[in-house]
Amino acid sequence: MKFFVDTADVDAIRELNDLGMVDGVTTNPSLILKSGRDIIEVTKEICGIVSGPVSAEVVALTADEMIAEGRKLAEIAPNIAVKVPLTWDGLKTCKVLSGEGHMVNVTLCFSANQALLAAKAGATFISPFIGRLDDINLDGLDLIADIRTIYDNYGFETQILAASIRTANHVTQCALIGADVMTAPPSVIKALAGHVLTDKGLDQFMKDWAKTGQKIL
Ligand code: E4P
Repeated sequence: MKFFVDTADVDAIRELNDLGMVDGVTTNPSLILKSGRDIIEVTKEICGIVSGPVSAEVVALTADEMIAEGRKLAEIAPNIAVKVPLTWDGLKTCKVLSGEGHMVNVTLCFSANQALLAAKAGATFISPFIGRLDDINLDGLDLIADIRTIYDNYGFETQILAASIRTANHVTQCALIGADVMTAPPSVIKALAGHVLTDKGLDQFMKDWAKTGQKIL
């Protein structure tokens, strides 16, 4: 499973990228707001750090305007994936931009039927939002499993990009289901390294080592 990092914080992206943990980046208007930076400028900087797909989201609501915005965003770098919302106009935009050879990430997906439409419109990535479904007492992971089954039934090549990941368990379950990609904030990716028994075991080793009175260096 590929790891995308869901942030526009270039320092966090650089740190994870240096460790080989970053196969791509996803941003959205809320993350651009959080960064406090200009969308073109910060996206260009991210594309200079990461060689994989970097999603940059359009903000228009009509297809004509989304297409124009998408073309402008795609000029930033060859690894831009234009992110469009899963609306009828977003699907039209997906069809046009993917036909022009651009990568397209269809976002804000909350149903298997939406994912089916995105695949038929030529999406490179479909982004089902797990955490936001969990927030309304639905099971976001069920949606990932349903989309996996449907795409495999018909051989759709659209990659399932599991988004709105909030927990380490979301990551494990997405990998078990067979999501192609997961995108998570840096804090969630770092939390994957943690285990209470690792901490406990290391604490015991440190205590015992101190008792030996030895040094390695
Ligand atoms: C994905 O592309 C989105 O930017 C993101 O995963 C949304 O996550 P959230 O629901 O935690 O805001």
